[in-house]
Amino acid sequence: MKIVLASSNRNKYREMKEAFGPIGVELIYGGDTDVSIEVDETGDSYEENALLKARAWSEALGMAALADDSGLEVHALGGAPGVHSARAVPGSDADRTMWLLSQMEGAEDRRARFVSCIAVVFPDKEPPLVYRGICSGTIASNPRGSGGFGYDPIFIPDGYNATFAELGNQIKTKISHRAMAIKGIAEMLIPVLQYYAVRTMEKSRFVQGQ
Ligand code: IMP
Repeated sequence: MKIVLASSNRNKYREMKEAFGPIGVELIYGGDTDVSIEVDETGDSYEENALLKARAWSEALGMAALADDSGLEVHALGGAPGVHSARAVPGSDADRTMWLLSQMEGAEDRRARFVSCIAVVFPDKEPPLVYRGICSGTIASNPRGSGGFGYDPIFIPDGYNATFAELGNQIKTKISHRAMAIKGIAEMLIPVLQYYAVRTMEKSRFVQGQ
């Protein structure tokens, strides 16, 4: 089965392609298709935003589409920046990281979690699939490390003494919120793939029998 990744982020594509190959899904890179879709992320939740993106791409291409939406939730900030993580303040990733640290000045409660939601939308009437992955940790007092992106230099996942930016991609891709969501949605896809395989077989038998 072919599924288009509703994103032009090649890093996300590489990370996901490897997870879906073994279950028989050919993930197509959104940036390689001849459509260019900009979706306003107007939803109040990661789930809504992931579904908005997947629906737009599925409708435009007439095929199954997969999208993700993620963010960082900080306990002492009541869950902010959450769904607004990418646009919490204008500027660069480093600006947003410094903004977040300034919001947390003096806060003893450093608990935080990364959340990632992945949605798959099908071109027929099949109900969409949604899975939420979580990675819990704490916010460091200063940015550390040079790997990754976004808030990686200030996020220390539980069980480690280093930030995501210090740990590097090899560890991050095993334990991150996105890794959890990819694993979860891949497991949800297995019975759906079996259903489509049976349906395709029945259709071809019907055509042959005519
Ligand atoms: P997106 O929905 O995956 O584009 O992520 C939205 C925003 O959440 C990003 O722009 C980052 O600020 C933040 N974010 C999501 N995942 C990560 C991560 O793995 N590391 C650091 N920041 C992240």
